[in-house]
Amino acid sequence: AAQKLIKKLEETIENIPDFPIPGIQFKDISPIFLNPGLYEEVIADLVNFSKGKVDAVCGIESRGYLFGIAIAVALEVPFILIRKAGKLPPPVISEKYDLEYGSAIIETREGQIKPGERILIHDDLLATGGTTEAAAKLVEKQGATVAQFSFLIGLKDLNGKEKLDKFNAEVYHILE
Ligand code: PRP
Ligand code: MG
Repeated sequence: AAQKLIKKLEETIENIPDFPIPGIQFKDISPIFLNPGLYEEVIADLVNFSKGKVDAVCGIESRGYLFGIAIAVALEVPFILIRKAGKLPPPVISEKYDLEYGSAIIETREGQIKPGERILIHDDLLATGGTTEAAAKLVEKQGATVAQFSFLIGLKDLNGKEKLDKFNAEVYHILE
């Protein structure tokens, strides 16, 4: 991304110490949505990464929707919701993944991702990579290919990218 955009985002995203639990620094992206011009620049940058390379976009609930659907509309391709368990009506396909403590399940409506499609998986943040890895497994379970991953922020220290290596997809994030 352009250095100008990176700088603007760094000035806009708020780093909140010890939230939601002590020792964690929370990145609050909500101020981006107070600035429509900046939001448009973010979308344009993410669209530029994916243009002509994917057949559909999967966004991960909930913050992955904030940018994901705008990316899909700009690319003129379908947008598919990946949701936390129990929100989507049947038939769904599910994938369980580990959290720091315990586990979680994400789901997508069966049949919305088509076999053979090249999929962009988008989320706001790559941290441990557990969420994104589970989303990629959902895509593969439907016979599609993960062509790309994109994030607003890819945290370096948690080795999230290593979890994505096995999908042989392009990975892009605007910030670290
Ligand atoms: C956050 C973030 C990513 C995920 C990254 O979502 O939006 O989806 O965690 O973490 P990971 O790489 O360690 O899996 P969260 O589950 O907090 O929910 P939200 O998007 O609904 O706020
Ligand atoms: Mg999330």
